[in-house]
Amino acid sequence: MVNFKDLGLVNTREMFKKAMAGKYAIPAFNFNNMEQLQAIIQACTENASPVILQVSKGARNYANQTLLRYMAQGAVEYSKEISGGKGAVPICLHLDHGDSFELCKSCIEFGFSSVMIDGSSLPYEENVALTKKVCDFAHQYDVTVEGELGVLAGVEDEVSAAESHYTKPEEVIDFVTKTGVDSLAISIGTSHGAYKFTPEQCTVDPKTGRLVPPPLAFDVLKAVEEKLPGFPIVLHGSSSVPQEEVDIINANGGALKAAVGIPEEQLREAAKSAVCKINIDSDSRLAMTAGIRKVFVDKPAEFDPRKYLGPARDRMKAMYTHKIINVLGSAGHAWDK
Ligand code: G3H
Ligand code: 13P
Ligand code: ZN
Repeated sequence: MVNFKDLGLVNTREMFKKAMAGKYAIPAFNFNNMEQLQAIIQACTENASPVILQVSKGARNYANQTLLRYMAQGAVEYSKEISGGKGAVPICLHLDHGDSFELCKSCIEFGFSSVMIDGSSLPYEENVALTKKVCDFAHQYDVTVEGELGVLAGVEDEVSAAESHYTKPEEVIDFVTKTGVDSLAISIGTSHGAYKFTPEQCTVDPKTGRLVPPPLAFDVLKAVEEKLPGFPIVLHGSSSVPQEEVDIINANGGALKAAVGIPEEQLREAAKSAVCKINIDSDSRLAMTAGIRKVFVDKPAEFDPRKYLGPARDRMKAMYTHKIINVLGSAGHAWDK
């Protein structure tokens, strides 16, 4: 058993309390590789933002869970090293979309400071039972747990849903009370990936010709907040799919047609509410792909990976920096009292 506290990591409890009081959201960025992690830690340390590093089951399969955990441990030292003497920003290592008690237990025993148990595709009572089982185990080690109610459209790792079912506000008190969960992911119209809305669901901006998605269900968020005052809420599927990245990808041999994300002004509004954690993965994938594709087209003779992964890392860092300063509002809050 490795305790996360011995690794310099933190759980989400204090992070969320401060985010709620300060009306901002903690960035939850997924990582699978070194360049992504470097970009996250540089952006968050240089801008004094706390951060949640997310590892999905897919990331564990791709990169190996041992390597990812040591990378997160190394990230604490790296943040300290580049902080100019201030010390590492608060870093939480979180399992994203855990789909079984065994997976959550294994991550907890391995040093994760937070886990998500995603029982959202199960019948309600089974979701309650599974989430409670994970909470009872995790809380013995002060590891925090995120549960989910409501189903997001799109593909959540191995949990898939053809269409989204908004969270039912009338269920949240019962769920939180029975499970003891520390935060709750809800469904209000976000979804995973770069194709969050079909063109038919969107209108067209007459000035730009771009697709404009329907607004998030802020009424559902408000109803949940009223039921659970001061309780940390999580938004998954919150990439904005920046058109600039999509355009660079498509101009350099890519084929991302009708990719649409969540408008940033809506995330800005959500971050001021009980939403304390905002999950972003696809925007990092897009920035990395745009950076690599551009080098491949501009410099076809280049074959040193550092020459294309370096620019890709720069694009990801710029994206993360923009999110924490201009969208989530977490910049400057690393050492809030
Ligand atoms: O919620 C899904 C995350 O974007 C992780 O995606 O399962 O492909 O690693 P992944
Ligand atoms: P995006 O696909 O919108 O980046 O969502 C990521 C996510 O929710 C990870 O859990
Ligand atoms: Zn998710």
